[in-house]
Amino acid sequence: MTKPPQFRRRTLLKGLGASALLPLLSANLIGCSDSSDAPPTPNPPESVPATFEHGVASGDPLADRVILWTRVTPEREGDVVVTWELASDEGFANIIASGSGTTTAAVDYTVKVDATGLDAGTGYFYRFRTGERTSPVGRTRSAPSGALAAASFAVVSCSNYPAGLFHVYREIAGREVDAVLHLGDYIYEYAADGYASDNAEALGRVSEPAGEILSLADYRTRYAQYRGDSDLQACHARHPFVVVWDDHEVANDAWRDGAENHSPDSEGSFSERRAAAIQAWFEWLPVRPPGEASDIIYRQFRYGDLLDLIMLDTRNAGRDRQVDYADYLNGEQIDSAAVLAATGDSNRSLLGSAQLAWVKDALTSSTARWQVLGQQVLMARQPLPEPAVRALTPATAGEDALQQATAAVLGAVQAKGKPAGERSAEEQALLDSAIPFNADAWDGYTFEREDLLNHARQLQSRLVVLAGDTHNAWASQLTTADGTVVGAELACPSVTSPGAEAVIGTDAATLFGPLAVQLMDDLRYANLVQRGFLQLAVGADALQADWVFIDSIDSPTYAIDAQSAHRLSVDRTSLLLA
Ligand SMILES: [Fe+2]
Repeated sequence: MTKPPQFRRRTLLKGLGASALLPLLSANLIGCSDSSDAPPTPNPPESVPATFEHGVASGDPLADRVILWTRVTPEREGDVVVTWELASDEGFANIIASGSGTTTAAVDYTVKVDATGLDAGTGYFYRFRTGERTSPVGRTRSAPSGALAAASFAVVSCSNYPAGLFHVYREIAGREVDAVLHLGDYIYEYAADGYASDNAEALGRVSEPAGEILSLADYRTRYAQYRGDSDLQACHARHPFVVVWDDHEVANDAWRDGAENHSPDSEGSFSERRAAAIQAWFEWLPVRPPGEASDIIYRQFRYGDLLDLIMLDTRNAGRDRQVDYADYLNGEQIDSAAVLAATGDSNRSLLGSAQLAWVKDALTSSTARWQVLGQQVLMARQPLPEPAVRALTPATAGEDALQQATAAVLGAVQAKGKPAGERSAEEQALLDSAIPFNADAWDGYTFEREDLLNHARQLQSRLVVLAGDTHNAWASQLTTADGTVVGAELACPSVTSPGAEAVIGTDAATLFGPLAVQLMDDLRYANLVQRGFLQLAVGADALQADWVFIDSIDSPTYAIDAQSAHRLSVDRTSLLLA
């Protein structure tokens, strides 16, 4: 791991605590810590002229500090001096903190500031300057402290640039929320002719670079393309983000030591690829660097006494390899019993032991009214009859399998509607064949899920889990194995990435949503065909979830699809969704 380049800075503070201009470094590096009595740099370097082409951003809000971010595009290679200002007013008449520093090619000319000494629950404006240039003005908000009656968030995931226009980000930019929670798949790693790029040329959104991204330069180029998007820039400029990565920030179906979309023979070392991906992620996203020699991103945010927001990493920190149903085929069929044994293996971990201990501690010590986990993959139980899972498994998928799956789902719904005593042996066998349909989710790591949910149950946590990853909207009760409700899960649809309609067709996906609600005991809601986001209004006694859908990702304008809008509330006492 390389040492960070020396970061030169001059800090000008007006009656506030320390602030630091941090260049964003590799994942294991922290920008320099700062103190207000640091000596000014005597001879500031010659600054290369530069422009602001990737907007501004803020994130990781705490009660007294927030990360500010920008990137400069230099005219030529060399050091660029950047100054920053944080003000209480949009006209910057009342500047509260400011500072200056140098950014370089070593950090892809990104700039981070941890602006400290802020008042809790307060809105601020910020901007950057270099030479004669001034960046767009950003707005941000510190986290509240003390007694708090309400908080609001927009929850997003899966923004695939070539798949469509970022109208969802534009819509959120126009709304009032305390923060945007991004649950990952902020970028996708595929080549320009890869996944979800059928419409890219017509949209003028062909992926850059053209190949699958592997090197640090590749990942940086991809982030630069995404962050050139004016809708994403508007969203970042308007709200602080709290971001975690999912798999595509590295490669599809990533786990601790590999990924489905990584071939060591042709693409080289996975650990080197992941280090490059993580370095670019820290450079380009407004995330507080975690500390020396660390790429840990699980972390906590407090919103007064109302909620503790506990962000997890279910991809890179400790995940064991996914169970692959191709390894459990008995002829044409998946061996359900063997799959359940594998997905329930007590030795398999999704979080890794350190993170599991950390999240348990976070729950134990939380005194807030709600405990909200912000993470990637669905936690709720989602079993389907084995023939249906076969149709969704690459090794067994096909037209025949899809037909059998449809028959199996319809048959299972019918069987489930009957009292157990009135089911035929065949119907009961169909129901009993059920296995998780997505072993990449918590359903593939059921021992650890049970452990975590039992912990929450013992604590009587007021548990709400947020998830992304699937590109579809879901709401479920979270239950322990004995059926006790211990929380609720709310999953956001994607910004642009294709949902179930791309796998089984729009008609089938439209039909399947309500059927899934009938078939899966814990599922309360599913929309498997539309793009959008989730808006949360957290109150003392109820947490309201609004699924918002847009009508298009490929026309230049869009409208909210009011007909599809869906609202559910989690009751704090019962934890039931209604
Ligand atoms: Fe995704």
